[in-house]
Amino acid sequence: MDIPTKSNRKILVTQALPYANAPLHLGHILEAVQTDIWSRFQNLNGNQCYFFCADDTHGTPVMLKAKEMAVTPEKLINDTFKDHKSTYELFGINFTNFYTTHSDENKEYSEKIYFEAKKNNLISKEIVEQLYDENEKMFLSDRFIKGSCPKCNAPDQHGDNCGKCGASYDVLEIKDPISIVSGTTPIKKKSEHIFFDLPQKIDVLRNYLAKANLQSPIKNKLKEWLSDDLKKWDISRDAPYFGFEIPDEVNKYFYVWVDAPIGYIASMDNWFKKNNINTLDVWSKDSEYEIYHFIGKDIAYFHGLFWPALLSSANLKLPDGIFVHGFLTINGEKMSKSKGTGILAKDFEKMSNPELLRYYFAAKLNDKVEDIDLNFEDYVQRINSDLVGKYLNIASRSASFIKRNNNQISENIDIEFIKTLTDEKTNIITLYENRQYSKLIRLVMELADNVNKYINDNTPWKKDENDAVNISSTAINAFKILTIYLSPVIPNLSHEAYKFLNLTNCSLDDVNNTLSGQINNYKPLLKRLEPLTIQEDDDMENENLINIDQFSAIDLRVARILKADHVEGADKLLQLHLDVGELGTRNVFAGIKSSYNPDELQDKMVILVSNLEPRKMKFGVSDGMVLASSNDDGIFLISPDEGAHAGMKVK
Ligand code: MSP
Ligand code: ZN
Repeated sequence: MDIPTKSNRKILVTQALPYANAPLHLGHILEAVQTDIWSRFQNLNGNQCYFFCADDTHGTPVMLKAKEMAVTPEKLINDTFKDHKSTYELFGINFTNFYTTHSDENKEYSEKIYFEAKKNNLISKEIVEQLYDENEKMFLSDRFIKGSCPKCNAPDQHGDNCGKCGASYDVLEIKDPISIVSGTTPIKKKSEHIFFDLPQKIDVLRNYLAKANLQSPIKNKLKEWLSDDLKKWDISRDAPYFGFEIPDEVNKYFYVWVDAPIGYIASMDNWFKKNNINTLDVWSKDSEYEIYHFIGKDIAYFHGLFWPALLSSANLKLPDGIFVHGFLTINGEKMSKSKGTGILAKDFEKMSNPELLRYYFAAKLNDKVEDIDLNFEDYVQRINSDLVGKYLNIASRSASFIKRNNNQISENIDIEFIKTLTDEKTNIITLYENRQYSKLIRLVMELADNVNKYINDNTPWKKDENDAVNISSTAINAFKILTIYLSPVIPNLSHEAYKFLNLTNCSLDDVNNTLSGQINNYKPLLKRLEPLTIQEDDDMENENLINIDQFSAIDLRVARILKADHVEGADKLLQLHLDVGELGTRNVFAGIKSSYNPDELQDKMVILVSNLEPRKMKFGVSDGMVLASSNDDGIFLISPDEGAHAGMKVK
């Protein structure tokens, strides 16, 4: 379904709210760039488009990450907020408002929507049995459980599915479960949970799928989910949880996926309040605003089912469309830190100009749910051939002729030729509107080719000065039009180009105006790129600094090896039984077999990291780690000086 391309629309767009437990990666930037281009285009085309986002701050991963870093969740999310905000700025992402889900507005709207749902009989309670970590005093969601597959017995499998035989199962069925949080065996425990009655909303959702602007594979998938056995949605989590407490309940929190999308409304509300717009009007059923969500394919279920159901339960407007993109791979591989393909978004600046990545992403993005690859060679080639070789080449080769004319643009230009560019305006609009950016880039580059051909065919270097200026002025006018067409994609470069043309920001209507008066001397706006290399982090040392709290979080203890044993079937490991004084005895598997015999280890004093997450291994659980140093000569255990005794803290 095509959406209208007329001007004067009021449009709100969002991108998914990134989790506040980690820095942004380039996949996040792909989404931001796709959304930002669309939003900038809408404004260029005379619509009023506002772009909202926020950090998604709640949930167990944020809570655990803060704990691991020995900081409060509030401190973690504040630091991440600044980091995310500045990273988006680096890529020219032009949010109307970037906010946080940990806000008063979000609490207010989460409660409001919940109360409406309750009033409409959509909320109920049920007892749920879950795995519970007695050490951490917390219930464990599937992702924090490992164990053996109930079907094929493969060890070390995820809470709800087996990587070996592919079986999926209920987490309560998993054998020998281990809590990933503490390394201990969880117990089964019951607790009352609060449910949202999704099945009651099935007709609303069917109707929604029929009407909303959705890509067909997404629509089909959502329909499939709808006709599957829809269940009530568990919207509560027990303490400890970092989030909003559910009103009128004791120690119950909203599940993060309740208040996360409501965070869209809260980010808007935070900005609307300062701009005299009424949030409830905007979200009312007869709103004059169109609302679109840009998201990745992994969260279509939440946005296509839960979210409209929640909104409808509070009688609010449903989103006009959900635009889903695929995942970013780098040089053909899934992003992974260890392979150097998990580049942090903020580190991209050390490799190349972030603005150019916008161009590259645009050249690859379309309206499909396909994955997209960032290939470094292709990137360099694409930027050099398109932006340097085609687009900017027009300005650089024409500017010299105009310079000889005291930088005066001639108004005696080839209107016929210019018309071949302005005629494409409707196509350009349609391609932007439908998110067919790669086709759009192809079209603009074809036009740039035509302009270069126009210059070649008219050979200004062979003409008298007058003709040369007229030909070059035609080319510079064409350059202006291409700049306007490209401006949503490369806003900073466009801005520089406008400066050269003596223009301030242009709208799409300005493609029909011809240049007059003086322009400026042309300074190269972009150099040809050299092959990209993944930069070793310059400020590695800085990034590696830890504070004293982080160091103190590591509980180092002197330990005495009571006994060391070979481990059957392991080539590298020895099993160490340690006396750790007041902490009792510990079992640790250490990869030191190549350098030590079990006999020589008895009574040796070592240093133990005593509060390391226990690790479940094939041979048993390793409860801590002994410190050692190694190089090609071997492995060297670290021992305290004589006199230290087992259990002493190392500080
Ligand atoms: N916090 C939730 C979204 C809540 S929206 C109310 C979340 N956060 S996320 O940080 O994991 O992902 C944010 C967005 O980035 C999602 O749309 C996700 O699909 C997208 N991407 C995450 N990895 C990606 C790639 N490798 N490539 C492209 N987009 C990816 O989900
Ligand atoms: Zn299995």
